[in-house]
Amino acid sequence: MKITLSVIKADVGGYVGHTSVHPRIMEVAEDYLQKAKDQGLLIDYFVTRVGDDLELIMTHKKGQNSGEIHKLAWNTFLEGTEIAKSLKMYGAGQDLLSDAFSGNIKGMGPGLAEMELEERPSEPIIIFMADKTSPGAWNLPLFRMFADPFNTPGLVIDPKLHDGFTFEILDVYEHKKVLINTPEELYDLLILIGAAEHYIIKSVFRKHDNDIAAVSSTQRLSMMAGRYIGKDDPVLVVRTQSGFPAVGEALEPFAFPHLVAGWMRGSHYGPLMPVPLHQANPSRFDGPPRVCALGFQLCEGKLIGPRDLFDDPAFDEARRTANKVADYIRKLGPFEPHRLGLKEMEYTTLPDVLKKIKDRFVDLD
Ligand code: F6R
Ligand code: MG
Ligand code: MG
Repeated sequence: MKITLSVIKADVGGYVGHTSVHPRIMEVAEDYLQKAKDQGLLIDYFVTRVGDDLELIMTHKKGQNSGEIHKLAWNTFLEGTEIAKSLKMYGAGQDLLSDAFSGNIKGMGPGLAEMELEERPSEPIIIFMADKTSPGAWNLPLFRMFADPFNTPGLVIDPKLHDGFTFEILDVYEHKKVLINTPEELYDLLILIGAAEHYIIKSVFRKHDNDIAAVSSTQRLSMMAGRYIGKDDPVLVVRTQSGFPAVGEALEPFAFPHLVAGWMRGSHYGPLMPVPLHQANPSRFDGPPRVCALGFQLCEGKLIGPRDLFDDPAFDEARRTANKVADYIRKLGPFEPHRLGLKEMEYTTLPDVLKKIKDRFVDLD
């Protein structure tokens, strides 16, 4: 049975500041998607939030890039924005870059990860959702899940994974993409994806049958709006078990809270802290960046779940490490490498400062 899983998210207004989403907005989104389910457009849905991002997890039979599904998400975000405006939520409608829907939500602000899949006899999936960071945040964990035998022993000892995986990489500056096969092109892969703000993993396929294994959202709000107006707070869908990484192999990379771009004013590196949903309220220095993982069993397209997979004391140590790293890196204040490089910062005063002092620059001897 072919099912499409669409995860579409947007920040339609923060409560309080950029820390969360008001419950009323969640209710409206829930009502809207329930209507679409009653009408038969959706098979199932789950509405949630991570930080200030409203996340719509939907299953249907309309395939990828369906105008109907994208319009449904867009209208849900518009409804949410109305509530956000009426309650004077912070930055109401901030991710909706256009006034009119034109058939496809791509390039209009919201983040989108979609996969069409043939549902297996049992189909365990994980939806990862992050706040206060950018899609490059998935590069390291995806590499570890699908190409690093020290993370995923299945690559070594399970015949169903032993052939390896193909990575689809986007060059977000040149608007190009390339397929890289692992393990044979491992070092080629790493020279690219190590630059996680330039080369971003869009999808992963199982090499021997080309079946889809993972897909991430790779919108860059900065580029779409022609200026930097917000980090993208990405989502990622990963299929698990029976020829894909086990649930535990897919979660394991997050036991190391790696440094990601985002955090305060979208302009700082900070540790990605894995948390259960109830702790996804980034408030210290507007962070540190968070990641949640919801597990579902698909059943004829129904979303059985979720299980809140970082709600496990086994991730306590990662959270403690993230806090230690946050203490350490915060001490750098406005200095790189805590602060992002000049081109990646979401806020800057550099052009104004340079203009002000331009006549005071003198040639070196
Ligand atoms: C990061 C983020 C926040 C804001 C910060 C300042 O992605 O959204 O850290 O950048 O709270 O917000 P403004 O400029 O709206 O006061
Ligand atoms: Mg926000
Ligand atoms: Mg956000």
